[in-house]
Amino acid sequence: MNIIVTGGAGFIGSNFVYHMLGKYPEYKILCIDCLTYAGNMSTLKEAMDNPNFKFFKTNICDRKAIYEIFENEKPDIVVNFAAESHVDRSIENPEVFLQTNILGTQVLMDACRKYGIKRYHQVSTDEVYGDLPLDRPDLFFTEETPIHTSSPYSASKASADLLVQAYHRTFGLPVTISRCSNNYGPYHFPEKLIPLMIANALNDKPLPVYGEGLNVRDWLYVEDHCKAIDLIIHNGKVGEVYNIGGHNEMKNIDIVKLICKHLEKPESLITFVTDRKGHDMRYAIDPTKIHNELGWLPETKFADGILKTIKWYLENKEWWETIISGEYQSYYEKMYKDR
Ligand code: NAD
Ligand code: DAU
Repeated sequence: MNIIVTGGAGFIGSNFVYHMLGKYPEYKILCIDCLTYAGNMSTLKEAMDNPNFKFFKTNICDRKAIYEIFENEKPDIVVNFAAESHVDRSIENPEVFLQTNILGTQVLMDACRKYGIKRYHQVSTDEVYGDLPLDRPDLFFTEETPIHTSSPYSASKASADLLVQAYHRTFGLPVTISRCSNNYGPYHFPEKLIPLMIANALNDKPLPVYGEGLNVRDWLYVEDHCKAIDLIIHNGKVGEVYNIGGHNEMKNIDIVKLICKHLEKPESLITFVTDRKGHDMRYAIDPTKIHNELGWLPETKFADGILKTIKWYLENKEWWETIISGEYQSYYEKMYKDR
C-alpha cells in the first residue's frame, strides 16, 4: 500500500507518519510538504532514515508537481493534513488560507480522479460547526450539526469539506472526512495554546490568556487522532463524515494553571490580554458515530497526556528553541505586543 500524507512535516501529520511507519512496516509512506513556517524537517529526522518513507518538498497547490508525484508513485490512499492551521494568523492574513486549504484540496482531488486513487481522506476540524454556548453543556457537535463558521480559517476548512463532498457526489470520488477537536502532544508548533504556554513558562515569560480564559476546548491526545484516521481510511464508509473527540472539555485558564502547577511556575505569570476577534466560546464533539461504526475510543486520559506532553517539551528543548528563535520572534512581537 502506498499512502500519500500531505502536511507530514507539521504537528498531526508527522505524528501520523510515525504511527503508520511503526504499525505497517509493509506500507510506503510518501510525505508531501512545502515546509511553511509550520513545517519542520527536524520533526521528520527519524522518518528520513526509514526506507519505507519518502519526502517531497512540494506545494499542494502546484498542480504539475502534484500530478508528477502521483504519476511516479501510484498512491493507493491520500490523507490530506496540509493546511494553514492557526486561527490568529487567518485573522491577520486570510488569503493563504483560501489558497492552501481550498485550492490545494482541489488540486489533490483532481490528481486522485486522474490517477484512480482508492481513497481520498480530508482531515477537517470541529471548527466548521462554529461554537456552542457555555450555558448549554447538553449540546454537542454531531455529524448532522450545520456548518456555521467563525474565522477565515474555519471558513476555508468548511469550504474544502463542501468541495470534498461535491467531488464525491458529482464525480464519484471515494472520499472520507474527519472532523476532530483540539489536539495536543509532541511536535505541536509553539504558537498554539498548550506548547506556547509550556515554552513561555519554561522561559519565565508572561502567559497571555485571551479574554477571561473561559473559552472551552475539547482536548484529544494526538496519537488518538492518528489512530482514528487509520481506522477511517481502512474501514470507514466512503462518502461519510466522522467526528473525533475525547469528551474532555476544559477551560483555557484551567489548562494554563495546570501547566504552571506541573512546571512549578507561579500563576502570577498569567496575563489576561485582548480577546481574539470572533473568538469561539465552546467546542464539544459527540464521537458516538466513530465509536459505534469503527470501535474507536480515545485511549490517553488528559491527566496522563498533558504530563507526557510536558515531558516531551522538556526533553526536546532544541526542537522548539530553534523554532522560537526564527520567524516566530517577529510573529510573537506582532501578535502579542501591546495586546
Ligand atoms: P500544522 O500547521 O502544524 O502543520 C501543517 C503542515 O502543512 C506544515 O508542515 C506545513 O508546512 C504544511 N503545509 C501548509 N501549507 C502547505 C501547502 N500549500 N503545501 C504543502 N504543505 C503545506 O497543522 P496541524 O495542527 O498539524 O493540522 C493538520 C491538519 O489537521 C490541518 O488540516 C488542520 O486543519 C487539521 N486539524 C488540526 C487540529 C489541531 O488541533 N491542531 C484539530 C483538528 C483538525
Ligand atoms: O478545534 C480544532 C482546532 O484547534 C484546529 O482546527 C486548529 O487548527 C487548531 O489551531 C485549534 O484551534 P484553536 O483556536 O482552538 O487553538 P489555539 O491553540 O490557537 O487556541 C486554543 C484556545 O486558547 C483558544 O480559545 C484561544 C486561546 N489562546 C490561544 C493562544 C495561542 C489563548 O488564550 N492564548 C494564546 O496565546
